[in-house]
Amino acid sequence: MEQTKFLLDESQIPRRWYNVVADMPNPPQPVLHPGTGEPIGPDDLAPLFPMALILQEVSEEAEIAIPEEILDIYSLWRPTPLYRARRLEQAAGTKARIFYKYEGVSPPGSHKPNTAVAQAYYNKKEGRTRLSTETGAGQWGSALAFACKLIGLECKVYMVRISYDQKPFRRSMIQLWGAEVVASPSNDTRSGRAILEEFPDTPGSLGIAISEAVEDAAQRDDTSYSLGSVLNHVLLHQTVIGQEAIAQMELAGAFPDVVIGCVGGGSNFAGLAFPFIREKIAGREIDVLACEPAACPTLTRGVYAYDFGDTSKLTPLVAMHTLGHDFVPAPIHAGGLRYHGVAPLISQLVRDGLIRAEAYLQNDVFASAILFANTEGIIPAPESAHAIHGALRAARQADEAGEQRTILFNLSGHGHFDMAAYDNYLAGKLEDVALDEEEIARALRAIEGLPTPA
Ligand SMILES: Cc1ncc(COP(=O)(O)O)c(C=O)c1O
Repeated sequence: MEQTKFLLDESQIPRRWYNVVADMPNPPQPVLHPGTGEPIGPDDLAPLFPMALILQEVSEEAEIAIPEEILDIYSLWRPTPLYRARRLEQAAGTKARIFYKYEGVSPPGSHKPNTAVAQAYYNKKEGRTRLSTETGAGQWGSALAFACKLIGLECKVYMVRISYDQKPFRRSMIQLWGAEVVASPSNDTRSGRAILEEFPDTPGSLGIAISEAVEDAAQRDDTSYSLGSVLNHVLLHQTVIGQEAIAQMELAGAFPDVVIGCVGGGSNFAGLAFPFIREKIAGREIDVLACEPAACPTLTRGVYAYDFGDTSKLTPLVAMHTLGHDFVPAPIHAGGLRYHGVAPLISQLVRDGLIRAEAYLQNDVFASAILFANTEGIIPAPESAHAIHGALRAARQADEAGEQRTILFNLSGHGHFDMAAYDNYLAGKLEDVALDEEEIARALRAIEGLPTPA
């Protein structure tokens, strides 16, 4: 019998996070102060984040030790399993070998607690008592609520309106773990009220929810802001995924030709891919593929520019692929992928040709999700299903090229709270959103006049 699961012992949880900045051929562009256009320093970020996280944000060290207290909480679900998807391979009729790393075994059901626990830990250590955050799909909000409960912090979650309505049980999870949750835009912040006044029926967006959470944190001394993706330190914390995967692929006697993840802000993708990009920079040949929704095609159709991380222009300016900070993506079911920008580290690596990207329509993605659920059994989160779809395409391309390739993708979470989306798909009610050039051009006008990256 061929082996299906490749498991590591608890003692093999990585002891260090890997910082890709140390190995990048070109460093990321500096983060700029929106008022002065000058690079910002650690002190500028101090009202929002604890200093330990700010120092990780600007670190150029290749490895950063993971504190024991964080490892202790990681041990509740880490190391996560790596599977060989033999039943999926058979059903797809491919010669490719497909492996997946499954992050859905964490208590909240995704990769998000890898950074939530770390962020809560450093905040607590520096005396903050409360965190504010946004959530798109509800996965991040529930992960941070979980982490705050275990570490002992209060938590307020601004949940994108469409997810708040579509996913009442994600809301309940956030409340069960003791956090407060409101639909965004909300009446609790100035930015939320301004948007509600202009667009009372808006489905919300991650950009809007970030504005609310940043405003909340900036106004209170006891509160830090916590972001579930995009920032360097968030991607750093996720690299436990790829480090474990390298060890598990070794157990399987294999190494991937193709490494794949879905991209919202970029954290699960980076978590799996960065340790492999370290190998790629060192000379190994690996195709690294980022998968995004056609309704929010940041990497494939956005421009590389300085832009705000949020809709109300409260954050510093970061150089990244963007669709413009006031772009509100159509309310597709992969709520966690509805972000106008992407992690600057990923953008830079795309520019340097170390990562490539593809965009998919949601009906195609759900068809792949159903094939996966019907063969491997796990019902994937709609976000993660983009990576499944990418893996099946990569397998087909390998077969067409007459090569047997090894494909590894990140199954970033389960979809147990996304059944309304599956209901819609099975009833044939899911709409594919064709984003036209005019809307992209309109949204990009929002960044006219901002500084241009070098
Ligand atoms: C299961 C899952 N996968 C992926 C994402 C996308 O985020 P990121 O690109 O930061 O991994 C989300 C975001 O909410 C998610 O819940």
